[in-house]
Amino acid sequence: MLASMSLLWHFFKRFLRYRGALLAGLLCIPAAQLADVAITLLIGEALDKVAQSGDTDYMPRILGLLVGAALLHSVFRFFQRWCIVVVSRRVEVNLKQDLFDRLTSLDFAFHDRSRSGDVVSRLTSDVENLRMFLGPGLMYSAGALVIVPISIGILLTLNQTLALTMVIPMVSVALVMKLLTPRLHKHSMTVQESLGEISHRAQENFSGIRVVKGYDREDHQAGLFSDTSRENRDNQVRLGKARGLTHAYIHTAFDTTFAVILVIGGLAAIDRTLPLGDLFKFIDLTLKIFWPLIAMGWIAGMYPRAVASAERVRDLLNRSSDIESGTTRIVKEDIQGGLSFEKLRFTYPEATTCALQDIDLRVPAGSTLGVVGPTGAGKTTLLEMVGRLHDVESGRLCLDGTDVRELDLDDLRQSLGYVPQDSFLFSEPFHENIRFGADQDLSAEHVEELIRQSALADEVAAFPEGAETLVGERGVTLSGGQRQRACIARALARSPRVLILDDCLSAVDSETEKTLVDHLRQEGRGRTVLVAAHRLSTVARADQILVLSGDGAVEAVGTHAELLARTGWYQDTWNQQQFLQDLGDQA
Ligand SMILES: Nc1ncnc2c1ncn2[C@@H]1O[C@H](COP(=O)(O)OP(=O)(O)OP(=O)(O)O)[C@@H](O)[C@H]1O
Ligand SMILES: [Mg+2]
Repeated sequence: MLASMSLLWHFFKRFLRYRGALLAGLLCIPAAQLADVAITLLIGEALDKVAQSGDTDYMPRILGLLVGAALLHSVFRFFQRWCIVVVSRRVEVNLKQDLFDRLTSLDFAFHDRSRSGDVVSRLTSDVENLRMFLGPGLMYSAGALVIVPISIGILLTLNQTLALTMVIPMVSVALVMKLLTPRLHKHSMTVQESLGEISHRAQENFSGIRVVKGYDREDHQAGLFSDTSRENRDNQVRLGKARGLTHAYIHTAFDTTFAVILVIGGLAAIDRTLPLGDLFKFIDLTLKIFWPLIAMGWIAGMYPRAVASAERVRDLLNRSSDIESGTTRIVKEDIQGGLSFEKLRFTYPEATTCALQDIDLRVPAGSTLGVVGPTGAGKTTLLEMVGRLHDVESGRLCLDGTDVRELDLDDLRQSLGYVPQDSFLFSEPFHENIRFGADQDLSAEHVEELIRQSALADEVAAFPEGAETLVGERGVTLSGGQRQRACIARALARSPRVLILDDCLSAVDSETEKTLVDHLRQEGRGRTVLVAAHRLSTVARADQILVLSGDGAVEAVGTHAELLARTGWYQDTWNQQQFLQDLGDQA
């Protein structure tokens, strides 16, 4: 319990950043409640006066006071809500931003393990749970903490027997809440999990909609979704039952209280031992305690959810990336771009065999390295290691003689232009996707030049709105080859010292590929280029070519001519690909 409280306090500290507004809101709470109690007391007084003496001269004054108290009550209540809701929304925005920043800074290993549905659920429902509990939740609790003791104090001065009967339902409500809270906690956890599962399923199916439709598996996938939904429904029903039970207890307890007031108070009123005004005060104040107590029940119901959410959010915020930045700063302009791989070895977390082993190679600054090998050989892995998307397990990878782990991570990544194998684009205007790569604002002419360099000029000109055309989600409205070249333009936008191209010409025809490679050569003199490819013609003109074997080791290194002269994977594959191309040319 203490641990949960301190966890929530940790998040509540974020509210304290807006002390002014929070304090104003908190001060409005007792003011609003006191005005509310004053209304009850004034009406009670008026009733007594009328009943005792029939004196109506008192009426205008009491009416004036009532209107005043009602106005104060409304104004304070408005500002109480306004201040606290505004603060809680600001906290929510900040927290979401922090979570988003953390998520983007985490390494691949984390993202490979987590599912995007869960991550989205943390960003939305968990933050919302925390906001509701710590903002409006605490506001209602603070209101209850004011009105309940004041009202009970007044009731005790009016009639002790009657007031003490109020204690019974209150104690029973507290006990019942205590009993039901663990069950509520358990149910709300399962509800959160099944909600995460639903959003995961939906997202996966929508991103893979082409596969689902292509295989005519809509019904099957809909069935799976329906199972998940049903599970969520059952969990929600269980949670609803537990909550309903809680509310039922509270209502029953209060109905009993009213029955007691009516019987004991009514009899006392008939005996004239309890003035009519006091009976009214009893009924009205009980009603006024009723709602805050219901709210307390609601907040108590929210408490487990808030704690569960706080735990998940804290876990994420505290998670640090396994890949930490080094301290050596580098200026992009000073980078030569020489790379050396020294006895490099890497194994993916949870993998049983290593993806790369004994990679020993020097790539002089300004030269081009082709990386080839059978599928799954480790080409992508090797290229990803340059920008430290993974860190070496043993050995070293150096840029201009300095271990990349010693370099400032931002500096390192800003000096690289990376075109991943899956050409991902954002659903933004086409030119925004290219600007994304730049570390400064690019002029329209510059963007146009990048489009030209990527051999895309004619195709972009034919788009309905040219470079302004909106790209569909993940780039689906473009052809595979267009997507790949758009990604190349994006990488070129930052004039990288080292350009990394991961099999990103595979969907481009040979003619366009040739034009593109020529452009890249002209434009990027002095730039180091690493290019992985399946089509060997892509790397044929590279200064050296690294052939990886199926188990991630170096099978051979050499120029195209050298490798072709040796029997081995390169020679076999080249001959095969040439044969297929000749066949294609003849056809
Ligand atoms: N995130 C990952 N977790 C575990 N293993 C992985 C992960 N990514 C890749 N692998 C494994 O590492 C090996 C090398 O993969 P990599 O993607 O580097 O190959 P590749 O040479 O680029 O293949 P391709 O030619 O198909 O692009 C493969 O056996 C693959 O299954
Ligand atoms: Mg690959």
